[in-house]
Amino acid sequence: LEETVLLVDDEENTRTALSIALTREGYQVLSASSGEMGIEVLDGNPVDIVVTDMKMPGVTGMELLQYVRKHYPEIMVIVITGYASVESAITAMKDGAFDYITKPIKLEEVKITLQKASEKRNLLIENLLLKQQLKGKYKFENMVGTSRSMHEVFSLMEKVVNTESTVLIQGESGTGKELVAKAIHYNGPRKDKPFVAINCAAIPSELLESELFGHLKGSFTGAVANRTGRFELADTGTIFLDEIGSMSLALQGKILRVLQEREYERVGGGRTTKVDVRVISATNVDLEKAVKKGLFRDDLFYRLNVIPIHLPPLRERVEDIPLLAAHFIKKYNEKLGKDIKGLGPGVLDQLSAYDWPGNIRELENIVERALTLTEGRYIEPGSLPQSITLPASDAPFTIGAHIPDKGIDLEKELANFEAAVIKTALKKAGGIKSKAAELLHIKRTTLIEKVKRLKLG
Ligand SMILES: Nc1ncnc2c1ncn2[C@@H]1O[C@H](COP(=O)(O)OP(=O)(O)OP(=O)(O)O)[C@@H](O)[C@H]1O
Ligand SMILES: [Mg+2]
Repeated sequence: LEETVLLVDDEENTRTALSIALTREGYQVLSASSGEMGIEVLDGNPVDIVVTDMKMPGVTGMELLQYVRKHYPEIMVIVITGYASVESAITAMKDGAFDYITKPIKLEEVKITLQKASEKRNLLIENLLLKQQLKGKYKFENMVGTSRSMHEVFSLMEKVVNTESTVLIQGESGTGKELVAKAIHYNGPRKDKPFVAINCAAIPSELLESELFGHLKGSFTGAVANRTGRFELADTGTIFLDEIGSMSLALQGKILRVLQEREYERVGGGRTTKVDVRVISATNVDLEKAVKKGLFRDDLFYRLNVIPIHLPPLRERVEDIPLLAAHFIKKYNEKLGKDIKGLGPGVLDQLSAYDWPGNIRELENIVERALTLTEGRYIEPGSLPQSITLPASDAPFTIGAHIPDKGIDLEKELANFEAAVIKTALKKAGGIKSKAAELLHIKRTTLIEKVKRLKLG
Protein backbone atom coordinates (compact mmCIF):
# COMPACT_ATOMS: atom_id res chain seq x y z
CA LEU A 1 0.00 0.00 0.00
CA GLU A 2 1.25 3.38 -0.93
CA GLU A 3 2.52 5.98 1.48
CA THR A 4 1.82 9.66 1.13
CA VAL A 5 4.71 12.08 0.77
CA LEU A 6 4.23 15.81 1.07
CA LEU A 7 6.78 17.84 -0.93
CA VAL A 8 7.27 21.42 0.19
CA ASP A 9 9.55 23.61 -1.91
CA ASP A 10 9.17 27.06 -3.36
CA GLU A 11 11.09 26.06 -6.49
CA GLU A 12 8.72 24.64 -9.01
CA ASN A 13 11.36 22.69 -10.91
CA THR A 14 12.49 20.74 -7.88
CA ARG A 15 8.88 20.01 -6.93
CA THR A 16 8.00 18.72 -10.38
CA ALA A 17 11.10 16.58 -10.75
CA LEU A 18 10.70 14.99 -7.31
CA SER A 19 6.99 14.59 -7.74
CA ILE A 20 7.40 12.65 -10.98
CA ALA A 21 10.21 10.49 -9.58
CA LEU A 22 8.37 9.62 -6.36
CA THR A 23 5.07 8.91 -8.07
CA ARG A 24 6.96 6.47 -10.26
CA GLU A 25 8.31 4.85 -7.09
CA GLY A 26 4.76 4.20 -5.97
CA TYR A 27 4.34 7.02 -3.46
CA GLN A 28 1.27 9.16 -3.40
CA VAL A 29 2.62 12.68 -3.73
CA LEU A 30 1.11 15.93 -2.48
CA SER A 31 2.98 19.14 -3.04
CA ALA A 32 3.00 22.63 -1.64
CA SER A 33 4.85 25.71 -2.83
CA SER A 34 5.31 27.27 0.60
CA GLY A 35 5.52 26.41 4.29
CA GLU A 36 2.08 27.92 4.85
CA MET A 37 0.56 25.76 2.16
CA GLY A 38 2.42 22.77 3.56
CA ILE A 39 0.70 23.26 6.92
CA GLU A 40 -2.67 23.54 5.24
CA VAL A 41 -2.15 20.29 3.36
CA LEU A 42 -0.96 18.55 6.54
CA ASP A 43 -4.06 19.60 8.41
CA GLY A 44 -6.38 18.29 5.73
CA ASN A 45 -4.71 15.06 4.63
CA PRO A 46 -3.14 12.00 6.18
CA VAL A 47 0.59 12.29 5.39
CA ASP A 48 3.36 9.83 6.23
CA ILE A 49 6.50 11.65 5.22
CA VAL A 50 7.29 15.32 4.64
CA VAL A 51 10.16 16.35 2.36
CA THR A 52 10.79 20.05 2.76
CA ASP A 53 13.24 22.63 1.54
CA MET A 54 14.89 24.54 4.37
CA LYS A 55 15.09 27.98 2.84
CA MET A 56 11.72 29.37 1.88
CA PRO A 57 10.18 32.82 2.21
CA GLY A 58 7.55 32.97 4.99
CA VAL A 59 7.28 29.75 6.99
CA THR A 60 10.69 28.10 6.71
CA GLY A 61 11.52 24.41 6.58
CA MET A 62 12.67 24.64 10.18
CA GLU A 63 9.34 26.10 11.29
CA LEU A 64 7.44 23.51 9.31
CA LEU A 65 9.52 20.82 11.02
CA GLN A 66 8.61 22.22 14.43
CA TYR A 67 4.94 22.29 13.48
CA VAL A 68 5.06 18.64 12.44
CA ARG A 69 6.91 17.57 15.60
CA LYS A 70 4.31 19.30 17.70
CA HIS A 71 1.13 18.23 15.93
CA TYR A 72 2.01 15.07 14.04
CA PRO A 73 4.89 13.36 15.88
CA GLU A 74 4.45 10.16 13.87
CA ILE A 75 5.23 11.91 10.55
CA MET A 76 8.85 11.65 9.34
CA VAL A 77 10.47 14.84 8.09
CA ILE A 78 13.33 14.94 5.60
CA VAL A 79 14.89 18.32 4.92
CA ILE A 80 16.55 19.49 1.72
CA THR A 81 19.40 21.91 2.01
CA GLY A 82 22.00 23.60 -0.15
CA TYR A 83 25.46 22.09 -0.03
CA ALA A 84 26.74 25.24 1.61
CA SER A 85 24.36 25.13 4.54
CA VAL A 86 24.73 21.62 5.90
CA GLU A 87 24.92 23.24 9.34
CA SER A 88 21.24 24.10 9.21
CA ALA A 89 20.47 20.50 8.28
CA ILE A 90 22.30 19.33 11.38
CA THR A 91 20.26 21.73 13.51
CA ALA A 92 17.15 20.29 11.88
CA MET A 93 18.23 16.76 12.79
CA LYS A 94 18.71 17.85 16.36
CA ASP A 95 15.18 19.20 16.25
CA GLY A 96 13.79 15.88 15.17
CA ALA A 97 14.19 15.70 11.40
CA PHE A 98 14.69 12.12 10.26
CA ASP A 99 17.43 12.88 7.74
CA TYR A 100 18.62 15.48 5.25
CA ILE A 101 19.39 15.57 1.55
CA THR A 102 21.80 18.04 0.01
CA LYS A 103 21.36 19.87 -3.27
CA PRO A 104 21.95 19.12 -6.07
CA ILE A 105 19.40 16.40 -5.49
CA LYS A 106 20.28 12.87 -6.50
CA LEU A 107 17.12 10.84 -7.02
CA GLU A 108 18.72 7.60 -5.84
CA GLU A 109 19.56 9.23 -2.52
CA VAL A 110 16.00 10.53 -2.15
CA LYS A 111 14.58 7.08 -2.80
CA ILE A 112 16.78 5.39 -0.23
CA THR A 113 16.17 8.05 2.38
CA LEU A 114 12.42 7.79 1.90
CA GLN A 115 12.53 4.04 2.19
CA LYS A 116 14.40 4.29 5.48
CA ALA A 117 11.96 6.91 6.70
CA SER A 118 8.94 4.77 5.99
CA GLU A 119 10.49 1.79 7.76
CA LYS A 120 11.29 3.96 10.74
CA ARG A 121 7.77 5.32 10.76
CA ASN A 122 6.20 1.88 10.94
CA LEU A 123 8.46 0.98 13.82
CA LEU A 124 7.64 4.20 15.58
CA ILE A 125 3.92 3.56 15.40
CA GLU A 126 4.36 0.09 16.81
CA ASN A 127 6.53 1.44 19.60
CA LEU A 128 4.03 4.15 20.36
CA LEU A 129 1.39 1.51 20.83
CA LEU A 130 3.71 -0.52 23.02
CA LYS A 131 4.72 2.46 25.09
CA GLN A 132 1.16 3.49 25.70
CA GLN A 133 0.41 -0.02 26.73
CA LEU A 134 3.32 0.07 29.17
CA LYS A 135 2.17 3.38 30.53
CA GLY A 136 -1.15 1.72 31.24
CA LYS A 137 0.74 -0.94 33.21
CA TYR A 138 0.25 -3.22 30.30
CA LYS A 139 1.16 -6.42 31.92
CA PHE A 140 -1.85 -8.36 30.82
CA GLU A 141 -1.46 -9.47 27.26
CA ASN A 142 -4.02 -8.16 24.79
CA MET A 143 -5.64 -5.87 27.32
CA VAL A 144 -5.27 -2.21 26.62
CA GLY A 145 -6.57 0.93 28.27
CA THR A 146 -5.04 3.95 29.95
CA SER A 147 -8.17 5.51 31.44
CA ARG A 148 -8.36 5.92 35.18
CA SER A 149 -10.99 3.27 35.55
CA MET A 150 -8.91 0.77 33.59
CA HIS A 151 -5.88 1.64 35.73
CA GLU A 152 -7.94 0.66 38.73
CA VAL A 153 -8.93 -2.59 37.07
CA PHE A 154 -5.31 -3.39 36.20
CA SER A 155 -4.03 -2.68 39.69
CA LEU A 156 -6.75 -4.83 41.24
CA MET A 157 -5.88 -7.61 38.84
CA GLU A 158 -2.24 -7.37 39.80
CA LYS A 159 -3.16 -7.66 43.43
CA VAL A 160 -5.22 -10.80 42.94
CA VAL A 161 -3.20 -12.76 40.40
CA ASN A 162 -0.91 -14.32 42.97
CA THR A 163 -3.61 -15.08 45.49
CA GLU A 164 -6.29 -17.72 45.64
CA SER A 165 -9.02 -15.16 46.22
CA THR A 166 -12.40 -15.64 44.66
CA VAL A 167 -13.04 -12.90 42.14
CA LEU A 168 -16.38 -11.62 40.86
CA ILE A 169 -16.21 -9.62 37.63
CA GLN A 170 -19.15 -7.36 36.91
CA GLY A 171 -19.73 -5.47 33.71
CA GLU A 172 -22.05 -4.98 30.78
CA SER A 173 -21.90 -7.29 27.82
CA GLY A 174 -18.67 -6.96 25.84
CA THR A 175 -16.68 -5.07 28.47
CA GLY A 176 -13.98 -7.74 28.71
CA LYS A 177 -15.08 -9.97 31.59
CA GLU A 178 -13.80 -13.18 30.07
CA LEU A 179 -10.56 -11.49 29.06
CA VAL A 180 -9.98 -10.39 32.66
CA ALA A 181 -10.75 -13.86 34.00
CA LYS A 182 -8.24 -15.41 31.61
CA ALA A 183 -5.61 -12.78 32.32
CA ILE A 184 -5.88 -13.48 36.05
CA HIS A 185 -5.51 -17.19 35.49
CA TYR A 186 -2.66 -17.01 32.98
CA ASN A 187 -0.62 -14.59 35.07
CA GLY A 188 -0.96 -16.51 38.30
CA PRO A 189 0.57 -19.62 39.85
CA ARG A 190 -2.02 -21.89 38.23
CA LYS A 191 -1.14 -20.75 34.70
CA ASP A 192 0.11 -24.17 33.59
CA LYS A 193 -3.04 -25.81 34.90
CA PRO A 194 -6.41 -25.84 33.15
CA PHE A 195 -8.66 -22.81 32.73
CA VAL A 196 -12.20 -24.08 32.28
CA ALA A 197 -15.01 -21.71 31.39
CA ILE A 198 -18.70 -22.42 31.54
CA ASN A 199 -21.47 -20.06 30.55
CA CYS A 200 -24.26 -20.76 33.01
CA ALA A 201 -26.81 -18.93 30.87
CA ALA A 202 -26.10 -20.94 27.75
CA ILE A 203 -26.90 -24.33 29.23
CA PRO A 204 -30.48 -25.37 30.12
CA SER A 205 -30.74 -25.36 33.89
CA GLU A 206 -31.70 -29.04 34.11
CA LEU A 207 -28.42 -29.96 32.38
CA LEU A 208 -26.21 -27.44 34.13
CA GLU A 209 -25.68 -29.51 37.26
CA SER A 210 -24.37 -32.50 35.35
CA GLU A 211 -22.29 -30.21 33.17
CA LEU A 212 -20.64 -28.76 36.27
CA PHE A 213 -20.30 -31.85 38.42
CA GLY A 214 -20.52 -34.73 35.95
CA HIS A 215 -22.86 -37.68 36.12
CA LEU A 216 -22.90 -41.43 36.27
CA LYS A 217 -24.26 -43.57 33.48
CA GLY A 218 -27.99 -44.10 33.84
CA SER A 219 -28.52 -41.40 36.47
CA PHE A 220 -31.14 -39.75 34.25
CA THR A 221 -32.68 -40.24 30.82
CA GLY A 222 -30.00 -39.41 28.30
CA ALA A 223 -27.12 -40.16 30.64
CA VAL A 224 -25.87 -42.95 28.43
CA ALA A 225 -22.31 -42.85 29.73
CA ASN A 226 -20.33 -41.51 32.64
CA ARG A 227 -19.51 -37.87 32.18
CA THR A 228 -16.72 -35.79 33.65
CA GLY A 229 -17.88 -32.45 35.01
CA ARG A 230 -16.22 -29.07 34.53
CA PHE A 231 -15.11 -28.91 38.15
CA GLU A 232 -13.18 -32.11 37.71
CA LEU A 233 -11.66 -30.84 34.44
CA ALA A 234 -10.63 -27.65 36.20
CA ASP A 235 -9.03 -29.48 39.15
CA THR A 236 -5.78 -27.74 40.25
CA GLY A 237 -6.63 -24.90 37.83
CA THR A 238 -9.31 -22.24 37.55
CA ILE A 239 -13.02 -22.50 36.81
CA PHE A 240 -14.71 -19.48 35.26
CA LEU A 241 -18.43 -19.38 36.02
CA ASP A 242 -19.75 -16.93 33.47
CA GLU A 243 -23.20 -15.33 33.84
CA ILE A 244 -23.56 -16.85 37.26
CA GLY A 245 -26.64 -14.69 37.85
CA SER A 246 -28.75 -17.04 35.79
CA MET A 247 -28.07 -20.10 37.96
CA SER A 248 -31.04 -21.68 39.79
CA LEU A 249 -31.25 -21.34 43.56
CA ALA A 250 -30.84 -25.09 44.00
CA LEU A 251 -27.62 -25.13 42.05
CA GLN A 252 -26.39 -22.03 43.85
CA GLY A 253 -26.50 -24.08 47.04
CA LYS A 254 -24.27 -26.72 45.49
CA ILE A 255 -21.76 -24.14 44.29
CA LEU A 256 -21.69 -22.67 47.79
CA ARG A 257 -20.79 -26.09 49.11
CA VAL A 258 -17.87 -26.39 46.69
CA LEU A 259 -16.61 -23.01 47.81
CA GLN A 260 -16.91 -23.88 51.48
CA GLU A 261 -16.04 -27.56 51.64
CA ARG A 262 -14.05 -27.93 48.40
CA GLU A 263 -16.07 -31.03 47.57
CA TYR A 264 -19.12 -32.13 45.59
CA GLU A 265 -20.95 -35.16 44.31
CA ARG A 266 -21.64 -36.21 40.77
CA VAL A 267 -25.24 -36.40 39.63
CA GLY A 268 -26.49 -39.88 40.45
CA GLY A 269 -23.41 -40.91 42.39
CA GLY A 270 -22.90 -40.96 46.13
CA ARG A 271 -19.13 -40.69 46.29
CA THR A 272 -17.85 -37.30 47.39
CA THR A 273 -15.12 -35.80 45.22
CA LYS A 274 -12.51 -33.38 46.52
CA VAL A 275 -11.53 -30.55 44.26
CA ASP A 276 -8.89 -27.83 44.26
CA VAL A 277 -10.00 -24.95 42.06
CA ARG A 278 -9.80 -21.24 41.98
CA VAL A 279 -13.23 -19.78 41.25
CA ILE A 280 -13.67 -16.68 39.14
CA SER A 281 -17.20 -15.70 38.25
CA ALA A 282 -18.77 -13.03 36.12
CA THR A 283 -22.14 -11.41 35.71
CA ASN A 284 -23.75 -8.74 33.61
CA VAL A 285 -26.70 -8.38 35.95
CA ASP A 286 -26.48 -6.57 39.26
CA LEU A 287 -26.15 -9.47 41.71
CA GLU A 288 -26.80 -7.29 44.72
CA LYS A 289 -30.22 -6.44 43.29
CA ALA A 290 -30.82 -10.09 42.52
CA VAL A 291 -30.04 -10.88 46.16
CA LYS A 292 -32.56 -8.28 47.30
CA LYS A 293 -35.19 -9.80 45.04
CA GLY A 294 -34.50 -13.24 46.46
CA LEU A 295 -33.19 -14.57 43.14
CA PHE A 296 -29.64 -15.03 44.32
CA ARG A 297 -28.42 -16.49 47.63
CA ASP A 298 -26.80 -13.84 49.75
CA ASP A 299 -24.36 -16.30 51.34
CA LEU A 300 -23.13 -17.32 47.89
CA PHE A 301 -22.92 -13.70 46.78
CA TYR A 302 -20.57 -12.87 49.67
CA ARG A 303 -18.44 -15.91 48.96
CA LEU A 304 -18.09 -15.02 45.30
CA ASN A 305 -17.65 -11.32 45.82
CA VAL A 306 -14.47 -11.47 47.91
CA ILE A 307 -12.68 -9.36 45.31
CA PRO A 308 -15.12 -7.47 43.10
CA ILE A 309 -13.81 -6.13 39.80
CA HIS A 310 -16.09 -3.71 38.05
CA LEU A 311 -15.53 -3.19 34.32
CA PRO A 312 -16.87 0.20 33.26
CA PRO A 313 -18.85 0.49 30.02
CA LEU A 314 -16.92 1.91 27.07
CA ARG A 315 -19.03 5.08 26.90
CA GLU A 316 -17.64 6.01 30.33
CA ARG A 317 -14.04 5.72 29.18
CA VAL A 318 -13.99 7.15 25.67
CA GLU A 319 -10.37 8.16 26.25
CA ASP A 320 -9.50 4.49 25.71
CA ILE A 321 -11.02 4.44 22.21
CA PRO A 322 -7.92 5.62 20.26
CA LEU A 323 -5.70 2.98 21.81
CA LEU A 324 -8.32 0.24 21.53
CA ALA A 325 -8.89 1.17 17.89
CA ALA A 326 -5.13 1.06 17.20
CA HIS A 327 -4.97 -2.30 18.98
CA PHE A 328 -7.76 -3.77 16.86
CA ILE A 329 -6.43 -2.21 13.63
CA LYS A 330 -3.14 -3.97 14.30
CA LYS A 331 -4.89 -7.23 15.11
CA TYR A 332 -7.03 -7.22 11.97
CA ASN A 333 -4.26 -5.91 9.71
CA GLU A 334 -2.43 -9.10 10.59
CA LYS A 335 -5.48 -11.28 10.28
CA LEU A 336 -6.75 -9.82 6.99
CA GLY A 337 -3.36 -9.06 5.44
CA LYS A 338 -4.11 -5.33 5.33
CA ASP A 339 -1.96 -2.31 6.04
CA ILE A 340 -4.38 0.27 7.35
CA LYS A 341 -2.52 3.06 9.13
CA GLY A 342 -5.17 4.35 11.45
CA LEU A 343 -8.32 6.41 11.75
CA GLY A 344 -8.88 9.07 9.10
CA PRO A 345 -10.06 12.60 9.89
CA GLY A 346 -13.36 12.82 11.74
CA VAL A 347 -13.61 9.14 12.61
CA LEU A 348 -12.45 9.41 16.20
CA ASP A 349 -15.02 12.11 16.87
CA GLN A 350 -17.77 9.85 15.65
CA LEU A 351 -16.53 6.88 17.65
CA SER A 352 -16.32 9.04 20.76
CA ALA A 353 -19.84 10.37 20.37
CA TYR A 354 -21.41 6.93 20.06
CA ASP A 355 -22.80 5.21 23.16
CA TRP A 356 -21.50 1.65 22.57
CA PRO A 357 -24.23 -0.65 23.90
CA GLY A 358 -22.05 -3.63 22.88
CA ASN A 359 -18.95 -2.07 24.41
CA ILE A 360 -15.49 -3.27 23.38
CA ARG A 361 -16.78 -6.22 21.43
CA GLU A 362 -18.84 -3.84 19.31
CA LEU A 363 -15.83 -1.58 18.73
CA GLU A 364 -13.79 -4.59 17.70
CA ASN A 365 -16.48 -5.69 15.23
CA ILE A 366 -16.72 -2.22 13.77
CA VAL A 367 -12.96 -1.97 13.29
CA GLU A 368 -12.88 -5.38 11.64
CA ARG A 369 -15.72 -4.43 9.31
CA ALA A 370 -14.13 -1.08 8.48
CA LEU A 371 -10.84 -2.77 7.64
CA THR A 372 -12.58 -5.06 5.19
CA LEU A 373 -14.34 -2.13 3.54
CA THR A 374 -11.47 0.34 3.45
CA GLU A 375 -9.57 0.60 0.18
CA GLY A 376 -7.38 3.49 1.26
CA ARG A 377 -4.89 3.68 4.05
CA TYR A 378 -7.07 5.23 6.72
CA ILE A 379 -10.45 4.22 8.03
CA GLU A 380 -12.91 6.75 6.67
CA PRO A 381 -16.27 7.81 8.07
CA GLY A 382 -17.85 6.03 5.09
CA SER A 383 -16.66 2.63 6.35
CA LEU A 384 -18.51 3.00 9.63
CA PRO A 385 -22.01 1.56 9.96
CA GLN A 386 -24.90 4.02 9.82
CA SER A 387 -25.89 3.30 13.40
CA ILE A 388 -22.76 5.19 14.42
CA THR A 389 -22.65 7.95 11.86
CA LEU A 390 -26.29 9.00 12.01
CA PRO A 391 -27.43 9.87 15.51
CA ALA A 392 -31.21 9.50 15.69
CA SER A 393 -31.47 12.88 17.38
CA ASP A 394 -30.71 14.98 14.27
CA ALA A 395 -33.11 13.00 12.09
CA PRO A 396 -34.75 15.48 9.71
CA PHE A 397 -38.43 15.56 8.75
CA THR A 398 -39.10 12.33 6.91
CA ILE A 399 -41.50 11.73 4.09
CA GLY A 400 -44.83 10.56 5.46
CA ALA A 401 -44.20 12.14 8.85
CA HIS A 402 -47.07 13.66 10.76
CA ILE A 403 -48.02 17.32 10.27
CA PRO A 404 -49.45 18.82 13.46
CA ASP A 405 -52.78 20.69 13.45
CA LYS A 406 -51.11 24.08 13.58
CA GLY A 407 -49.15 23.15 10.42
CA ILE A 408 -45.46 23.41 9.74
CA ASP A 409 -43.24 26.02 8.14
CA LEU A 410 -42.28 24.53 4.77
CA GLU A 411 -39.30 26.83 4.22
CA LYS A 412 -37.94 26.01 7.64
CA GLU A 413 -38.50 22.28 7.20
CA LEU A 414 -36.74 22.34 3.85
CA ALA A 415 -33.85 24.26 5.32
CA ASN A 416 -33.60 21.76 8.20
CA PHE A 417 -33.70 18.92 5.75
CA GLU A 418 -31.02 20.51 3.59
CA ALA A 419 -28.90 21.17 6.64
CA ALA A 420 -29.19 17.57 7.79
CA VAL A 421 -28.23 16.22 4.37
CA ILE A 422 -25.24 18.55 4.15
CA LYS A 423 -24.14 17.68 7.66
CA THR A 424 -24.31 14.00 6.84
CA ALA A 425 -22.30 14.53 3.65
CA LEU A 426 -19.70 16.56 5.53
CA LYS A 427 -19.44 13.83 8.13
CA LYS A 428 -18.98 11.18 5.50
CA ALA A 429 -16.35 13.32 3.82
CA GLY A 430 -14.51 13.73 7.10
CA GLY A 431 -15.15 17.46 7.04
CA ILE A 432 -13.45 18.00 3.68
CA LYS A 433 -15.74 20.40 1.82
CA SER A 434 -14.64 19.56 -1.73
CA LYS A 435 -15.34 15.89 -1.06
CA ALA A 436 -18.73 16.63 0.49
CA ALA A 437 -19.62 18.78 -2.54
CA GLU A 438 -18.71 15.89 -4.79
CA LEU A 439 -20.95 13.56 -2.80
CA LEU A 440 -23.84 15.99 -3.21
CA HIS A 441 -23.18 16.65 -6.90
CA ILE A 442 -22.84 20.37 -6.32
CA LYS A 443 -19.98 22.81 -6.74
CA ARG A 444 -17.65 23.39 -3.84
CA THR A 445 -18.51 27.10 -3.87
CA THR A 446 -22.23 26.30 -3.75
CA LEU A 447 -21.64 24.10 -0.74
CA ILE A 448 -19.66 26.80 1.02
CA GLU A 449 -22.49 29.26 0.36
CA LYS A 450 -25.07 26.87 1.78
CA VAL A 451 -22.95 26.08 4.81
CA LYS A 452 -22.75 29.79 5.50
CA ARG A 453 -26.45 30.43 4.92
CA LEU A 454 -27.53 27.49 7.06
CA LYS A 455 -24.97 28.42 9.72
CA LEU A 456 -23.38 24.99 9.65
CA GLY A 457 -19.77 26.03 9.69
N1 LIG B 1 -9.27 -3.89 27.58
C1 LIG B 1 -9.34 -4.56 26.43
N2 LIG B 1 -8.35 -4.48 25.54
C2 LIG B 1 -8.43 -5.14 24.37
N3 LIG B 1 -9.43 -5.93 24.01
C3 LIG B 1 -10.46 -6.07 24.86
C4 LIG B 1 -10.46 -5.39 26.12
N4 LIG B 1 -11.61 -5.73 26.75
C5 LIG B 1 -12.27 -6.56 25.93
N5 LIG B 1 -11.60 -6.78 24.80
C6 LIG B 1 -12.04 -7.62 23.66
O1 LIG B 1 -13.43 -7.42 23.48
C7 LIG B 1 -14.10 -8.62 23.20
C8 LIG B 1 -15.16 -8.89 24.26
O2 LIG B 1 -14.54 -9.22 25.50
P1 LIG B 1 -15.10 -10.37 26.46
O3 LIG B 1 -15.61 -11.53 25.67
O4 LIG B 1 -14.06 -10.63 27.48
O5 LIG B 1 -16.33 -9.56 27.08
P2 LIG B 1 -17.46 -10.06 28.09
O6 LIG B 1 -17.61 -8.99 29.09
O7 LIG B 1 -17.15 -11.45 28.54
O8 LIG B 1 -18.74 -10.05 27.16
P3 LIG B 1 -20.14 -10.86 27.33
O9 LIG B 1 -20.82 -10.31 28.53
O10 LIG B 1 -20.86 -10.50 26.06
O11 LIG B 1 -19.78 -12.30 27.45
C9 LIG B 1 -13.04 -9.70 23.16
O12 LIG B 1 -12.65 -9.92 21.82
C10 LIG B 1 -11.89 -9.11 23.95
O13 LIG B 1 -10.67 -9.61 23.50
MG1 LIG C 1 -18.24 -13.19 28.22
